Amino acid sequence: MTDDVTVVPAVVADAGEILTVQRAAYLVEAQRYRDVFLPPLTETLDEVRAALSGPVVVLVARHGARLVGSVRARVDGDTAHVGRLSVAPDQQGRGIGGRLLAAVEQACADRVARFALFTGARSAENLGLYARRGYLVVAHRSDENGNRLAVLEKVTPARSDA
Ligand SMILES: CC(C)(COP(=O)(O)OP(=O)(O)OC[C@H]1O[C@@H](n2cnc3c(N)ncnc32)[C@H](O)[C@@H]1OP(=O)(O)O)[C@@H](O)C(=O)NCCC(=O)NCCS
Repeated sequence: MTDDVTVVPAVVADAGEILTVQRAAYLVEAQRYRDVFLPPLTETLDEVRAALSGPVVVLVARHGARLVGSVRARVDGDTAHVGRLSVAPDQQGRGIGGRLLAAVEQACADRVARFALFTGARSAENLGLYARRGYLVVAHRSDENGNRLAVLEKVTPARSDA
């Protein structure tokens, strides 16, 4: 279904398109929570460039020349913190988000014991997506704006060096 889409590591030059797709994708979450200041919407171009310049794993999905999605993971100790999973609104529902999530897990799998991420506690589609991919809700907390978040974790398959 997404044979025409490739998932590859991002480069710094992708920063502008990553931010554009991220903002378009997270607008639906902003409307859901009536909060246009969600962190994925207030992140600056310089902050995206900084993420791309450091140790964070950033992957992008491309359809021809077009960037249609992205995801990031920051490895901290034995945990990969996955975030900013975004797919351009007109490309959603084609399996691109699922592919990005699988690819970022694969990129970190031999370095960590678990994946962690969070999503809005009322974002039922996201919670379903993650539950079907093995994530369990382990806690709830509030973001800096007071929105309630569900924290999810997934234990990795046995590490190759274990
Ligand atoms: C979450 C997101 C990345 C998913 O991307 P996507 O390309 O649509 O995902 P997929 O096509 O791989 O679909 C993933 C699953 O969600 C389901 N799904 C996709 N869009 C859906 C929708 N609008 N309503 C209900 N379910 C939906 C699919 O059926 C699929 O189900 P599966 O688990 O049985 O495979 C995308 O919707 C997005 O960018 N959302 C806004 C930003 C956001 O909330 N990011 C996640 C923050 S934690």
